[in-house]
Amino acid sequence: MSNPVSLNWHLNHHSQADHDLRHLIVDISRACKYISYAIQTTEAGLSGSKNSFGEEQLTLDVLADDLVREYLSESGTVCCYVSEEQPDIVELDKKGDYTVVFDPLDGSSLVDANFSIGSIFGIYKGGDIIGRTPREQVAALYVLYGPRTVLTYTLGNGKGVHSFILNDVGEYTLLRDHLGVGDDAKVYSPGNLRAITTNSGYKSAMHSWLDEEKTLRYSGCMVADIHHIFAKGQGIFSNVGGGTESKYPNGKLRHVFECGPFAFLMEEAGGIASSGSENILDVPITSVDQRTPLIIGSKNEVERVNNLLHA
Ligand code: AHG
Ligand code: MN
Ligand code: MN
Repeated sequence: MSNPVSLNWHLNHHSQADHDLRHLIVDISRACKYISYAIQTTEAGLSGSKNSFGEEQLTLDVLADDLVREYLSESGTVCCYVSEEQPDIVELDKKGDYTVVFDPLDGSSLVDANFSIGSIFGIYKGGDIIGRTPREQVAALYVLYGPRTVLTYTLGNGKGVHSFILNDVGEYTLLRDHLGVGDDAKVYSPGNLRAITTNSGYKSAMHSWLDEEKTLRYSGCMVADIHHIFAKGQGIFSNVGGGTESKYPNGKLRHVFECGPFAFLMEEAGGIASSGSENILDVPITSVDQRTPLIIGSKNEVERVNNLLHA
């Protein structure tokens, strides 16, 4: 029996990643292996914030953030990082060449329901990312902690989007390579639907999906919901805002560590990500906690929804 293709082998031989970038992605994947294990084995989140001895517990968000920080710091390649769990850019290793942006645990409010959750990462060369755009990422990846743990990465530049599964001995092995997303969507995943009370364009989009009898798939974890699009090869996911008085006028999702990495992955797979008026990859980063509306997935459907949002 021939050996399965490992993540490290694939980064090296298929994607021809630079030495440091390959090590960085492998180190991130190691952190995620321990996040996956922590989800399986800690009580955190499942039974509220206290453990069975009545002690306060770290939430899984904080645990995941600490694990990623540990591995980034050990890697020696990261000058700074931006995490959803930290208010500012964190400096790490002055000699490091890369900035990593991440959401250590996406969908963490679903932990007690035992739904799928994930981690999201974007990697930039160099320091200071303010004023730059997500198109400048040199890699993006996510890990989905579902019934099975799956890691999907791209280095962009036509090198493709590839998925790996975490096996019983803690190795990521190739599951599917060159994932593609077709132009038309049969499945829709509408986030922040509360916005339709003040956003008539979004209401029209929702009605059109119902009228066309498309298939609804929405879990409340964007990693799982967008992974569904990659797995099925088509679909649309949205999270757009309501009026200026609404709770989330720009939608709920953060530009730097949620929208940006998925936009990089989606475009590489043949789909597209839009803010409604611009390609997400071209929206400049103004602050680490900036929110952007996101319409992502099959090209024709994203364009159709954009038109409805502007009608
Ligand atoms: P996080 O757990 O990192 O705060 O992010 C959750 C996000 C995203 O994954 C999901 O699509 C969205 O919040 C869900 O929002 P609603 O609960 O409003 O559907
Ligand atoms: Mn999130
Ligand atoms: Mn999170």
